[in-house]
Amino acid sequence: MDGVIFVIFGASGDLAVRKLIPAIFELHQGKYLPENFAVLGVSRSEYTDAAFRKKVFYESEFIDLKGKSKEEQKDFAERLSYTAIQTSETKDYAKVKKQLAKIDKQFNIGGNYIYYLSTPPFLYKTIPACLAAHGLNEEKEGWKRLVIEKPFGYDLETAVALNKDIKQYFQENQIYRIDHYLGKETVQNLLVTRFANGIFEPLWNRNYIEHVQITNAENLTVGSRGGYYDKSGALRDMFQNHLMQIVAHLAMEPPISADANAIRNEKLKLLQSIRPIKEEEVSKQVIRGQYTKSTIEKKAINGYRQEEGVPSDSRTETFVALKFFIDNWRWAGVPFYVRSGKALPTKVTEVVITFKDPPHALFRKEEMVYNDNNQLIIRIQPDEGLLLKFGMKVPGAGFEVKDVGMDFHYSDLTNAHVPAAYERLLLDMIKGDATLYARGDSVEEAWRFVEPILNAWKNNPKIKVYGYPAGTWGPAVVAKLIESDDVTWRNPCRDLTTDGSFSEL
Ligand code: BG6
Repeated sequence: MDGVIFVIFGASGDLAVRKLIPAIFELHQGKYLPENFAVLGVSRSEYTDAAFRKKVFYESEFIDLKGKSKEEQKDFAERLSYTAIQTSETKDYAKVKKQLAKIDKQFNIGGNYIYYLSTPPFLYKTIPACLAAHGLNEEKEGWKRLVIEKPFGYDLETAVALNKDIKQYFQENQIYRIDHYLGKETVQNLLVTRFANGIFEPLWNRNYIEHVQITNAENLTVGSRGGYYDKSGALRDMFQNHLMQIVAHLAMEPPISADANAIRNEKLKLLQSIRPIKEEEVSKQVIRGQYTKSTIEKKAINGYRQEEGVPSDSRTETFVALKFFIDNWRWAGVPFYVRSGKALPTKVTEVVITFKDPPHALFRKEEMVYNDNNQLIIRIQPDEGLLLKFGMKVPGAGFEVKDVGMDFHYSDLTNAHVPAAYERLLLDMIKGDATLYARGDSVEEAWRFVEPILNAWKNNPKIKVYGYPAGTWGPAVVAKLIESDDVTWRNPCRDLTTDGSFSEL
């Protein structure tokens, strides 16, 4: 594997401390990284190398040093160094260049640098321009890659502009747009479930599937993130990126190979086939909600408008549910229902495929203890796995039919270390594998779909923001979004096999 320097911009920030450095450390411990690698932290705050090592490594609450020898700790710590610059000052990047040359020589890197922008988004345009001004984007010696965190744009216009700006300095194959959901094993497993088995794919279409649900629930409230969240909302924060990526994995056509471009081409095609929701249809097909105060386990929970950094008349949605269609041969007429929210009863993300009823009802309705259609539940998190629900005969006279389930839990599969999303993504990036990164065109396509919804909400204040008490499954009207005779939302529990009108207290 090539040697590499990770250059982390915003190195003293939350993401670097919580996720990036711990992921790099885990990868190093697991011997996944090349022998010649180093980390250069870049930020505005002044730190010596020693102080930086102490903050992000030795004294980090996100790194477990138990059982690690002094030598092991030293070996990692010595690879960490730090440079303070004014991030928007082009001339300061001379310091970065000098430092890179020094580290490169010390660790024999060979000119391969990953620039990780873990900064506020307004710097996404500035940093690539400043790097380019010092030739730090050139690949004459070694490769250069640029990693960008979400949010990638604020709407379609800003996303298109950002792509254009960055591409002045870096080519598409050098740009890695992180969507941490793509680093989740279970999101990748959607492709394996579909394309490594002969039994699911023949049923994966309008002939057999009645509708598709995706639930993404979090029991946490926005807490101290109100300042950020209020400018974002559930549609931008979760749906435009993470959930549309899940839809793409679930619904795309089989790619011609498992190669990054083949998969990303199919995902783009799928996103292009989603029927736009017109502004005038938004109030019928999209429901937005906001959590209100409640009491859970005798503890008073703030309503969204009482959270720090949130205006008391905010109309930002903490919950969104959508109904949409995919206009292609496979999915014509099959409704997709997606909901996402904060302050719901539990933390869970799952896909529910509801199959059509058998064409002819043979057994008497009264004997059917089994009411549901067949369902395949693909659990993204937690209790990752798969559950197939179907009806079986209860032993005895007559034909009483009961609901049963066949379940597979990921935890049964292996004792091996399952890499955290960031570990997997960082490793792929070093290897130059962009399969699990969002390509510029599909990010724009996803914004194109959400744009009319954002516009409708902005232009038409009459579109309701429904309240829901924190700790419930969102506004009651959401039940009506699913137009099915006998199936509504599956309200999941933490464990895969139970559902119902459950509330995790
Ligand atoms: C982030 C959102 O992208 O994803 C957060 O900004 C959200 O609001 C988080 O909480 C959820 O990620 P996960 O992996 O915990 O489901």
